[in-house]
Amino acid sequence: MAAASPPAPPAEPERRALSIRTVRRGDLKAVIELDALVTGNRKPAYWNSLYQRHEEAVITGQHFLVATLGSQVIGFVIGEVRDWEFGSPPCGWILAIDVRPDARLLGAATQLLQVLCQGFKRAKVSKVRTLLARENTLILSFFRSQGMMISPFIPLEMDLAP
Ligand SMILES: CC(C)(COP(=O)(O)OP(=O)(O)OC[C@H]1O[C@@H](n2cnc3c(N)ncnc32)[C@H](O)[C@@H]1OP(=O)(O)O)[C@@H](O)C(=O)NCCC(=O)NCCS
Repeated sequence: MAAASPPAPPAEPERRALSIRTVRRGDLKAVIELDALVTGNRKPAYWNSLYQRHEEAVITGQHFLVATLGSQVIGFVIGEVRDWEFGSPPCGWILAIDVRPDARLLGAATQLLQVLCQGFKRAKVSKVRTLLARENTLILSFFRSQGMMISPFIPLEMDLAP
């Protein structure tokens, strides 16, 4: 009698590779949920209009990238090149960066920032800036780890009388 064939090995777990690419319309739902998760504020109209502007302005230096793990969107970064604003030569601005809490410390934000900065360099920009809330030590730790330092600019604001 022929020996029974050995049981098949368990299927390889899905290789969930981290990758970075330009946002697509189909990513918006995940971006909206991720932003709501991180900020506690769900704002689909804002994200839809931002996506629309991104599509129209991509040639003028707007960047909207997502990080994916397998097929899931786990993070995003938005940046743009601004010319001669605040009296400074053209530079790249990081406007927002977020990674899902359950996918942090995997290097996603580092890769998002690297790809964003490659885009800035292609636009012949040699400086990157951002603004962050003073008490947000998490984002501060991240930006410091990437080599960002205090800039020579100071933000100012005032309340407008009603
Ligand atoms: C900040 C944030 C984007 C980092 O994303 P991430 O994918 O986890 O970051 P990375 O894995 O690329 O981490 C890179 C480095 O950042 C630093 N860092 C990241 N998370 C940190 C933490 N919790 N504490 C201290 N340092 C941290 C570390 O130096 C880390 O390098 P290491 O892992 O070699 O120590 C993510 O935590 C996040 O989305 N936070 C909320 C963001 C937010 O407040 N957005 C609103 C303003 S735009």
